[in-house]
Amino acid sequence: MKLLICFGTRPEAIKMAPICLVLKKENIPFKLCVTAQHREMLDQVLGFFDLAPDYDLNIMQPNQSLNMLSSRILSEMDNIFEKESFDLVLVHGDTTTSSLVALAAFHRNCKVAHVEAGLRTYNKHSPFPEELNRQLTGRIADFHFSPTKTSKQNLLNENVQESKILITGNTVIDALFITLNRIDNGYTNASIENLKKRIDCSKKNILVTGHRRESFGIGFENLCNAILKLSQNKDIEIVYPVHLNPKVQKTVYHRLSGIKNIHLIAPLDYPSFIWLMSKSNLIISDSGGIQEEAPLLNIPVLVTRETTERNEGIKSGCSILVGTNTTRIIEEANRILNAGNIKYKMSNPYGDGFGAVKIVDFIQNNIFEDA
Ligand code: UD1
Ligand code: UDP
Repeated sequence: MKLLICFGTRPEAIKMAPICLVLKKENIPFKLCVTAQHREMLDQVLGFFDLAPDYDLNIMQPNQSLNMLSSRILSEMDNIFEKESFDLVLVHGDTTTSSLVALAAFHRNCKVAHVEAGLRTYNKHSPFPEELNRQLTGRIADFHFSPTKTSKQNLLNENVQESKILITGNTVIDALFITLNRIDNGYTNASIENLKKRIDCSKKNILVTGHRRESFGIGFENLCNAILKLSQNKDIEIVYPVHLNPKVQKTVYHRLSGIKNIHLIAPLDYPSFIWLMSKSNLIISDSGGIQEEAPLLNIPVLVTRETTERNEGIKSGCSILVGTNTTRIIEEANRILNAGNIKYKMSNPYGDGFGAVKIVDFIQNNIFEDA
């Protein structure tokens, strides 16, 4: 049984790393292929988890279009499958890498297992193009690792056979436990040390991220207006690691530069970002992964999207869906920051930190056995 793990972006790397680490620990052979849909943002994760790809397709181009990206992934993956055949490919989530690698594998009669399977908004424009990516990957996949009961139910509703689905929790929680443990045991780096000097814990700290394509234009303008308004309160400090997508960089640096309590910084390496999250009082973000991580750190998230496929966090009160309405963002942020004890205990609905072990066990017992 030959196993290939394939991913391309920062969040996929963070969420697939725990699986690679379990496979290594159990001495189960596998090959790792990165499309490098992201470059710098991917490489820092590979470095932190000490992962060395066997194949690096190095496809990222500045301001890449979805179609160019897709065609390069299909043709480069075909070259890999021409060189070496695999029985199973593991892909993750909802990126262009996941759906196009799954398609390339299907074209070569290779089975596909989907990690973080079954998340749905059923609105193909939100998140765009991720909702369709994950539906496509779900149709192609032979095995589905669902993070929650809800995501399993979505797949059952789509007539996926129950024996092909396993609820695992989200491996982002595995990665988070690994990272918190390393930080607790003394891990640090230049970026964490720099943040320690800059973050004033006596202030109300807001951490901001954003990168969704459906918010380009008016959505990002509205978010910037809300941040500008919030920054008028000098008790508030805002740290915004700006995503490397040039469309995001242009708007954010143009609208928010030069304000004393708004710190626009480059994307942080993963452990530094986790350290910074843990020191924040509030997060404003459209990120999927951050919605899953924040409840474990007891940090509320204002989700700047119209829809979310992570409704578990909304239902348990960890996150609030605010869209990109300026007034709503400001009102909810002030409400949370002005509440007496803003650090309250949350219950994390996204996993127990053993997702990767469950996935590897399933592959060994149900897929390797049948091969
Ligand atoms: C991608 C995923 C999105 C995921 C996000 C995580 C798709 C369609 N989108 O969006 O689902 O939530 O990653 O961050 O798969 N860039 C760099 N260096 C990097 C990374 C990006 O310069 O390390 C710049 C490049 O100019 C690149 C652009 O960002 O062309 C956009 O990258 P892309 O992967 O196409 O889209 P994201 O918005 O990052
Ligand atoms: N993250 C990071 N550095 C940053 C911002 C985020 O390492 O500057 C991590 C974060 O902890 C989470 C993941 O990146 O695990 C989320 O990635 P992103 O928001 O880009 O993508 P999404 O989860 O929305 O697909």
